[in-house]
Amino acid sequence: MYYIKAEPEISDFEFDKLLEELISLETKHPELATPDSPTQRVGGRPVSEFKPFEHVIRMQSLENTYARGELEEFDKMARGLVEADSLDYFVEPKIDGLAFSLHYTDGLLVAAATRGNGEVGDEITANVRTIRTIPLRIPTDAHYFEARGEIYMPKAGFLKLTEAQIERGDEPFKNPRNAAAGSIKLLDPAMTAKRPLDALLYGAGIIDGIPDPPTHAALTEMLRGFGLPVQPRTWFCHGMAEVMDAIDELEKMRHDFPFEMDGAVIKVNNRSLYKKLGSTAKAPRWARAYKYAPEQAETVIEAITVQVGRTGVLTPVAELRTVRLAGSDISRATLHNEDEIRRKDIRIGDHVMIEKAGEVIPAVIAVLPGKRTGSEIEFAMPSACPVCGEPTVRNADEVAIRCTNFLCPAQLVARVQHFASRDALDIEGLGERVAAALVDQNLISNPMDLFGIPEILLATLNLEPSGSYGGINDNTGTSLFQGEPVESVSGRVLGESNAKTIMEAISRGKNLPLGRWIYAIGIPGIGAKNARDLAGLHKDFEDFTKSDIIADAKRLYDLMEEADANNPNTQRVRALDIAARVECADRYARLSEEIKALGSRMAANGTAKSVKGSALKYTADVKPEACRAIHKFFNSDYGRDFLARMRELGLNPVGGGRKSASAPTGSFFDGKTVVITGTFHDGLDRNAAAELITNAGGKVVDSVSKNTDYLIVGDNPGASKTNKAAQLGTKTMDEAEMRQNLALPPASTQSSLLL
Ligand code: IVH
Repeated sequence: MYYIKAEPEISDFEFDKLLEELISLETKHPELATPDSPTQRVGGRPVSEFKPFEHVIRMQSLENTYARGELEEFDKMARGLVEADSLDYFVEPKIDGLAFSLHYTDGLLVAAATRGNGEVGDEITANVRTIRTIPLRIPTDAHYFEARGEIYMPKAGFLKLTEAQIERGDEPFKNPRNAAAGSIKLLDPAMTAKRPLDALLYGAGIIDGIPDPPTHAALTEMLRGFGLPVQPRTWFCHGMAEVMDAIDELEKMRHDFPFEMDGAVIKVNNRSLYKKLGSTAKAPRWARAYKYAPEQAETVIEAITVQVGRTGVLTPVAELRTVRLAGSDISRATLHNEDEIRRKDIRIGDHVMIEKAGEVIPAVIAVLPGKRTGSEIEFAMPSACPVCGEPTVRNADEVAIRCTNFLCPAQLVARVQHFASRDALDIEGLGERVAAALVDQNLISNPMDLFGIPEILLATLNLEPSGSYGGINDNTGTSLFQGEPVESVSGRVLGESNAKTIMEAISRGKNLPLGRWIYAIGIPGIGAKNARDLAGLHKDFEDFTKSDIIADAKRLYDLMEEADANNPNTQRVRALDIAARVECADRYARLSEEIKALGSRMAANGTAKSVKGSALKYTADVKPEACRAIHKFFNSDYGRDFLARMRELGLNPVGGGRKSASAPTGSFFDGKTVVITGTFHDGLDRNAAAELITNAGGKVVDSVSKNTDYLIVGDNPGASKTNKAAQLGTKTMDEAEMRQNLALPPASTQSSLLL
């Protein structure tokens, strides 16, 4: 098979090492730091919205065609317009990504923008700088050079990202295109930097100061010569017959590209004809897109198995007769839930058509009823959990069926995985396989047990699966998204170095801020963002567990709900007999008084707002479902045990608590603007420190100015920041002082103030 792969010259690890060296070199010799230094890729500051970017030359789109005949028409039209018997074309993959432009002045990358509506896009320079394949400087004599192309998320990166999202219980991106768009539009470049984005350039906008390349082939070579990433494979074609051959060839290899592609783009090669060919309102007449139909395959459902997730949700999975689809062997597909099975009338033994949703995740799209023999078996969700055997329930307002046994091993595995996931304690190396082995071998019965695991036990942990806990992955270590290994861990035992990495990460976890912990404990329905917001409202973990804010909000919502049910002006109540109506009216009056009293008290301390136009309606900072879930959690045995375990370990992660009535105000950082430079100890990374400071009411910005109150200086600080602080006389603070002001324990090794 012809395989097209983006082969980086060095590994990410090597890159990071070199970058670290460079940062330290530039710190010592700031005069060597240039605007195109790789160190400039990181460190763009978060923004509240993107600035508009006006395209001097409109960024157009392409007209799509789906039939070969339409391409013949296109050729006829183009030849007619330029009065030629035959035209040369360029055929290249149509990448399913996000159109963007790169702007270089005198060779230096100065801006990047999305297409937007073609005339005005979003300025996304800081985010684009984080894409390592995009050069920050290009070797050109052009005063201005605008390259155009596509930002995309490589298929491999997309799989990893969505697996992590599912593990965390987040809604996964539907396809690589959405993932790329969502990632490049993050307001914090540091977040974008963590997303596996890449780009390809296939066009140009403004070219000033050098001759325009006469052909598309020459333009592609020019882009390549500038070190810009270009298409891995293109076809030069004399006339339409060759174009047809090229799209045939391209279609055969469509799944071999590292990016998702949904067709071919056919471009007239001679650029000097473009003006004459002109364009329609939307698209130029010198190019056409040819879209391939999404691929489907027929197979048979041999069995339907059931997986159990973190919150006990049972997910039916179709075990398929293995079939090749879109470049990989498919043997499983999610069936989502029982309703979906009913809706599509899916039975065991059915012939079905499958498709990769967004070309990556397999899904059953239809049953072929004509192929039924009568021996197909209808599937019913089990009334007992397939892993622990305890009864399952379906709540009235849910499609999901759940295992009710909180101690179910499948749920425990998923809880441990969640606890270790990136937005939680970020314990790299602790994925499903390791979690399942720990649970299977009775080494842990609660994620908090991780803090007591001896390293030697981890190093000798037997990874050979003895059974499946029915997570997203099966016990062969292949995921539902087939073809990708789940974890890098391979072999029979975990081994010393993996164990060490995990132990270090576990220990770092103790230092993480409250938001990460609230997420990690895995309260159903509390996502990472929710958790951060909650952390901002509470001083520390103890404060959170006894939160007045949450208790008040819960009470307020309960009262409002009860008032609604007793409202004498509703049809439901009006239909009751007179005695019942009087009772409702009485009750409603009492509830109204209580709502007003509690609501106005909460409004006064800033934890609730009254809804305009309604004296009896309030919205609290914490949403009703969240209040109820948190309340339930800390009133459960598991929640109480969790709290006790935190206390035993002396853990009380720090949050914000600015708005909390119960939390003391006057945190050191309240209202202060700070800049952070250098690194800290004991696994406290800069982001975590920034989060803690923000939670404490401070503002963390990226560069030192006269408005900066403090420069916090860790090890290996950046010279530009420390120099600027010295110039402006900005106060500095070392790690020890910062820890003290954040009520964090001192670091085990002390940082020194390198000024
Ligand atoms: S050329 C005037 N070449 O597909 C627009 N576009 O569906 C010239 N696309 O808007 C675009 N791969 O965002 C071109 N090799 C390729 C492409 C490509 C993907 C995108 C582009 C375009 C969209 C149309």
